[in-house]
Amino acid sequence: MSRTRVLLVGAAGETGGSIANGLLENPVFELYALVRHRSVQKPAIVSLQERGVQIRKCDLKGPEEALANALQGIDIVISCVGPAEQQDQIPLAKAAKKVGVKRFVPCGFITVAPAGGIMWLRDEKETVYNHIKQLHLPYTIVDVGWWYQLSYPRLESGRVDYAMTTANNELVGDGDIPTAITDLRDIGRYMARIILDDRTLNKMVFAYNTVVTQNQIYDILEDISEEKINRNYISEEMVYNRVLAARQSSETYPFDPVKFIPRYLAEYQLSWGLRGDNTPDFAKYLGYLTSKELYPDFQPTDFKDYLQSVIGGTAKGVYTDRIISRAHQRAFPRSESSDSLYTRIFPRTESSDSLYMSR
Ligand SMILES: NC(=O)c1ccc[n+]([C@@H]2O[C@H](COP(=O)([O-])OP(=O)(O)OC[C@H]3O[C@@H](n4cnc5c(N)ncnc54)[C@H](OP(=O)(O)O)[C@@H]3O)[C@@H](O)[C@H]2O)c1
Repeated sequence: MSRTRVLLVGAAGETGGSIANGLLENPVFELYALVRHRSVQKPAIVSLQERGVQIRKCDLKGPEEALANALQGIDIVISCVGPAEQQDQIPLAKAAKKVGVKRFVPCGFITVAPAGGIMWLRDEKETVYNHIKQLHLPYTIVDVGWWYQLSYPRLESGRVDYAMTTANNELVGDGDIPTAITDLRDIGRYMARIILDDRTLNKMVFAYNTVVTQNQIYDILEDISEEKINRNYISEEMVYNRVLAARQSSETYPFDPVKFIPRYLAEYQLSWGLRGDNTPDFAKYLGYLTSKELYPDFQPTDFKDYLQSVIGGTAKGVYTDRIISRAHQRAFPRSESSDSLYTRIFPRTESSDSLYMSR
């Protein structure tokens, strides 16, 4: 059997970890991970090696020749880097073109939104997409909606705190805007199908599990937890004010998490919470193929089952290996929304600059 050689960038991260799991389920894939030297000993990487993943030591910020060497013999590249590292994919794309990679999957994996001024994070990714197209490099762009793992509010009892990244205690507007959500763990299972599918070459794919409103998420969680959850609705005006303030304070590079993270979080609320961008219908309008149409037999993890596991104490949190330095905790301005926006979503590993790298 001829195997497809896939190289994953960011295999130790959350999205990358899900994709590694999904691809390792199918023996057709021979999996490689591009890992920078300082991260080779990370437990996640050691564990992937034990499961047969081959390591190619290289840094995205290294010389292009080293990147081209790391990509030798690779059929498909999948990149899952953090928000601050999007532009670092451009040399990777050039190297992929040089060595004849057959499909390049840049780091999408966010909510659906139009390009050009709605979301800084989206536009960072779109710049990379444009470079890929200028190179005539075969590509697939995949977006996934909002992770289940980040979508639900805190319970007063504290029962779900162990699995939470943020307290997430705000409903945007009237809380009735539909938004697409996906279990982080399903992303890899979708990817295993998407990257072998000729229909997805040079296309955008929206892989999502279900569509809900924030009020519905609260209803389901109240129902299964038997706890009342305070509904903290934030007005349209407040979202616009936050977006405006965050944009004004983040006009200049280098990337500074204190300025940029509040910006992309506020812009998320603007995009999926007010504008309603993150839906399958809007995705189709923008030209995406959807997972429901491509893979009608795909069995996604049920959202209610996921929330049951959260309540039951068996869910796995995200970013639990990250530590926020005290300095950064102090630096993030706390506001009325502080708990929902400024907790573990600003991850920092002791060994990684992931979200804090300047360029
Ligand atoms: N849809 C959603 O709800 C949602 C939620 C969160 C994130 N996202 C998106 O998903 C994407 C991935 O985010 P994540 O949170 O999964 O990432 P993450 O856990 O922070 O992992 C990022 C990975 O990129 C690697 N990396 C960074 N710079 C590198 C370099 N110079 N050379 C080699 N490797 C490098 C890191 O390597 P090290 O191990 O060496 O640090 C790490 O493994 C983001 O772009 C974000 O937009 C979506």
